[in-house]
Amino acid sequence: MSSSSPPLSPRGAEEGEEDGGTGSGGGVGGGTVFSYGEAGYWDARYVEEGGAPYDWYQRYAALRPFVRRFVPPASRLLMIGCGSALMSEDMAADGYMEIINIDISSVLIEMMRKKYFDLPQLQYMQMDVRDMSKFSDESFDCAIDKGTLDSLMVSSVVWRLLSAQLRWSWKWTGYLNQGGSLC
Ligand SMILES: C[S@@+](CC[C@H](N)C(=O)[O-])C[C@H]1O[C@@H](n2cnc3c(N)ncnc32)[C@H](O)[C@@H]1O
Repeated sequence: MSSSSPPLSPRGAEEGEEDGGTGSGGGVGGGTVFSYGEAGYWDARYVEEGGAPYDWYQRYAALRPFVRRFVPPASRLLMIGCGSALMSEDMAADGYMEIINIDISSVLIEMMRKKYFDLPQLQYMQMDVRDMSKFSDESFDCAIDKGTLDSLMVSSVVWRLLSAQLRWSWKWTGYLNQGGSLC
């Protein structure tokens, strides 16, 4: 599997997009991109994938110059919606000493705990990023979000309305003369 993917269209999930986002289309667990904010969708997906590593967008190697510039290795780091990405493992290998990984999927968190049981730099906690009350103020020096905010956004009502509007618009552009415009 490649180390990066098109934005929010990895295997499986994109098939249901055409169904209007009802969540009843194809893809892992019968989900669509509109399911990306649901723990159940991710649980089913990680079971199906068996915890195989997958980095959305970019691997650490590509992001390293930026990360190293702004984040000292001694920082206490929060990895938001860690998924099965190798990002945290790669950062630990690069000298980062404390990375707290959170994810809404309990299935994923169990898998990652087993996988990294001998890597003390990495901790894994099942948590919804919208409720971080388990942490006290100023717990972290840096938080990294690679693809999780996107997941919450595409599952929002606003996104549903926007994509419905876009589909409608594209349908109508088909009826226009060449060079015609949709205002
Ligand atoms: C698009 S994947 C990105 C995974 C990883 N960060 C990467 O770069 O490959 C989104 C991840 O966010 C998690 N997630 C979705 N909603 C969440 C929430 N409200 N709180 C915490 N994690 C969430 C999902 O379980 C999934 O692992």
